[in-house]
Amino acid sequence: MRILLIMTGSIAAYKSLDFIRRARERGHVVTPILTKGAQEFITPLSAASLAEQPAYTELFSLKDETEMGHIRLARETDVILVAPASADFMASMVQGRAQDLAGAVLLAADKPVFVAPAMNVKMWESAANQRNLAQLKADGVRVISPAAGEMACGEIGTGRMAEVQEILAAVESVHVQESLRGKHALITAGPTHEPIDPVRYIANQSSGLQGYALAEAFALAGANVTLISGPTTLKTPFGVTRVDVKTAVEMMDATEKNLPADIGIFTAAVADWRVENAGAQKFKKRENGEPPVLRLVENPDILKTIAAHKNRPTLVVGFAAETEYLEAYARAKMQRKSCDWMVATDVSGGKSFGTATTSVLLLQGDAPAQPLLDVEKTAVAKQLVALAAQHFSSSGNVTAFPSSNLSKRKKA
Ligand code: CTP
Repeated sequence: MRILLIMTGSIAAYKSLDFIRRARERGHVVTPILTKGAQEFITPLSAASLAEQPAYTELFSLKDETEMGHIRLARETDVILVAPASADFMASMVQGRAQDLAGAVLLAADKPVFVAPAMNVKMWESAANQRNLAQLKADGVRVISPAAGEMACGEIGTGRMAEVQEILAAVESVHVQESLRGKHALITAGPTHEPIDPVRYIANQSSGLQGYALAEAFALAGANVTLISGPTTLKTPFGVTRVDVKTAVEMMDATEKNLPADIGIFTAAVADWRVENAGAQKFKKRENGEPPVLRLVENPDILKTIAAHKNRPTLVVGFAAETEYLEAYARAKMQRKSCDWMVATDVSGGKSFGTATTSVLLLQGDAPAQPLLDVEKTAVAKQLVALAAQHFSSSGNVTAFPSSNLSKRKKA
């Protein structure tokens, strides 16, 4: 992989020299750019020697521009990594300043950009830096979070640049992500609300956290994500197209309308029944104390319907919430609903509802179950992204976004 490494002014620049060495050991080609600030800590010569590539420093140097202009530098790479990223440099990225070679390259970039911040804890926590960080993330920049610990300045806290291995792993994940780029992922999430009358409804404990974590992870991996969401209080993840629904029937309809998709993931806790005789007006208490009698009818099974659809997604992933016989029940459900993979979630004793962590078994056809116990829901999401990437890297074409939906897609 070709990595364009922008080094900026921080004591952590020495770690980036180590990054060059480790990345080259793994067969990557690293082209260094040093800002003026970086050159206060390390020399272009040391970066160039380790990279066995010229190290670039000047925007207007005739030599650098003749050899390799900033546009070419931005184009002829697979990924751009800013490490260390100083607070000042992050601020100039937010402003889109092209005052030096590094800034100009980033403005011209059409490749994934990673930043590995490094700064004093107070600088890291400052309102201005946090604002800049949020803006960079909103701009699609991938932030490799700094670690907590003792810093060069002697203070303790968050701000130390992530370890070289971690930065390398993040950058290498781009390859995984490439196989999901442009794929359409259709994800259902949250509970459904089934009205009893205009002010009351039947609901369940689903928070939507797992579905939203998946939507975010697939969007970060470059997929076009449509999230069909029941009522939740969660924020729409960046870059995700969200369609809000209330009832199971609405969710069924919205899911079908958003086909075709390459991958369908069904995390929603869809109410199994709706009230057939829901009141058009609020039910009032009666003089004789008799409660209203509600008649329930079965809701459509969205997963089962989509898995049997003429526009079935290539990969259909169901979720099974079980309180006992986790693997056996989930395998039976996987078959009954014709899905390719099933994520069996242990909900015994109400576990997993509304919490950030979960315990699941990943079932991929007949392969042995893969347990993920007491992990963050975001970790389950990342694992599914990795498995889906593997699946698609060995097969198939991209399904286009349904063009009829393009106009109503708004990026959140
Ligand atoms: N599902 C769905 N539509 C429904 C019910 C369930 O799409 N009407 C999906 C869920 O999103 C999940 C999977 O089916 O991916 C299994 O859901 P679950 O509630 O565990 O299964 P049920 O079919 O409701 O079975 P049971 O309640 O009997 O365990």
